[in-house]
Amino acid sequence: MTHYQKIKAELRQKPRKWLVTGVAGFIGSNMLEALLKLNQHVIGIDNFSTGFQRNLDEVCDDVSLEQWARFQFIEGDLRDLDDCRMACEGINHVLQYAALGSVPRSIDDPISTNATNIDGFLNMLVAARDSNVKNFTYAASSSTYGDSKVLPRVEGEIGNPLSPYALTKYVNELYAAVFASTYGFNSIGLRYFNVFGKRQNPNGAYAAVIPKWTAAMIEGEDIYIYGDGGTSRDFCFIDNVIQAGILAAMSTSSAQNQICNIAFGARTSLNELFELIRCNLAGHEVFYTKSPAYCEFRKGDVRHSHADISKAKRLLGYSPEFDIHVGLAQAMPWYMEYLKER
Ligand SMILES: NC(=O)c1ccc[n+]([C@@H]2O[C@H](COP(=O)([O-])OP(=O)(O)OC[C@H]3O[C@@H](n4cnc5c(N)ncnc54)[C@H](O)[C@@H]3O)[C@@H](O)[C@H]2O)c1
Repeated sequence: MTHYQKIKAELRQKPRKWLVTGVAGFIGSNMLEALLKLNQHVIGIDNFSTGFQRNLDEVCDDVSLEQWARFQFIEGDLRDLDDCRMACEGINHVLQYAALGSVPRSIDDPISTNATNIDGFLNMLVAARDSNVKNFTYAASSSTYGDSKVLPRVEGEIGNPLSPYALTKYVNELYAAVFASTYGFNSIGLRYFNVFGKRQNPNGAYAAVIPKWTAAMIEGEDIYIYGDGGTSRDFCFIDNVIQAGILAAMSTSSAQNQICNIAFGARTSLNELFELIRCNLAGHEVFYTKSPAYCEFRKGDVRHSHADISKAKRLLGYSPEFDIHVGLAQAMPWYMEYLKER
């Protein structure tokens, strides 16, 4: 039995009460599904700014009635401290995901990004501290590495942030550290690297590259690559992120107040990604024959991203099971279905 399997068995034996913020979003709704399938009690909060009711409906369809009855939803906003206090009441584990994602969105509208990602995050720390929450795990970001040239990325060596979004995510880490030193309030930060999987929104100007290209190929639209296609990312399938979140929430003292990279630990260039998605969709009878169009590098983007995941392995017992190939194969049927319906 792996460490993760043991932790899941322990949870099934003794269910806990979890709060998932951003529960109607991509990562939040996948975590909700995983926790309900482990028979946990879950409170979720979301203001639907970038999340969707249909994500919650899908989870409802994928779990039993009994499991769904263990979920309680609060339509609320992290920028409102009272909403955060209400959500934190009686909670054992907080998974803090709600934020405004996307580097380009933050460049277009730094004020909104700051309000949710910093004020909202601070409200959650205060509310969780005052409710004596024992375990607070939050979504940090690989964007915090900024202009650092160190590859693979190691947690202790960051550069200067390249966007307002990256700055907000770094401030989260600083606030979490200050809450540990001044109030003795513990937390764990997970620096996610380009997560992908079902329910990641393919629409709009701020969509992430995998859902955006997948949708474009299925619908026969043009695909644009910023730069020469050599830009690379450490794409991490959602199930690895779920594993990391559950392990962090259940971890012992040595992991408290630590930041860990969460990725697969491999690099894929945008040119390679284009081919991978194209080949994957061919298995679903989608034959995309256009070549990508190359345009200027995008402001705020880092050139290469590749994680050293040894710290998460050591402290959390993290062991990612899904590489980009398996992850894409698992995600494609969802996109096929989703795009058929619209
Ligand atoms: N997806 C990735 O590749 C990635 C990478 C690094 C870090 N992260 C972080 O992971 C977390 C989840 O990201 P995601 O990809 O699921 O994004 P998402 O946009 O799908 O989910 C975020 C959710 O938070 C909700 N939300 C936003 N502002 C809120 C507010 N003020 N009050 C209540 N709810 C609010 C949104 O409605 C949405 O449902 C974020 O903190 C993000 O910064 C994601």
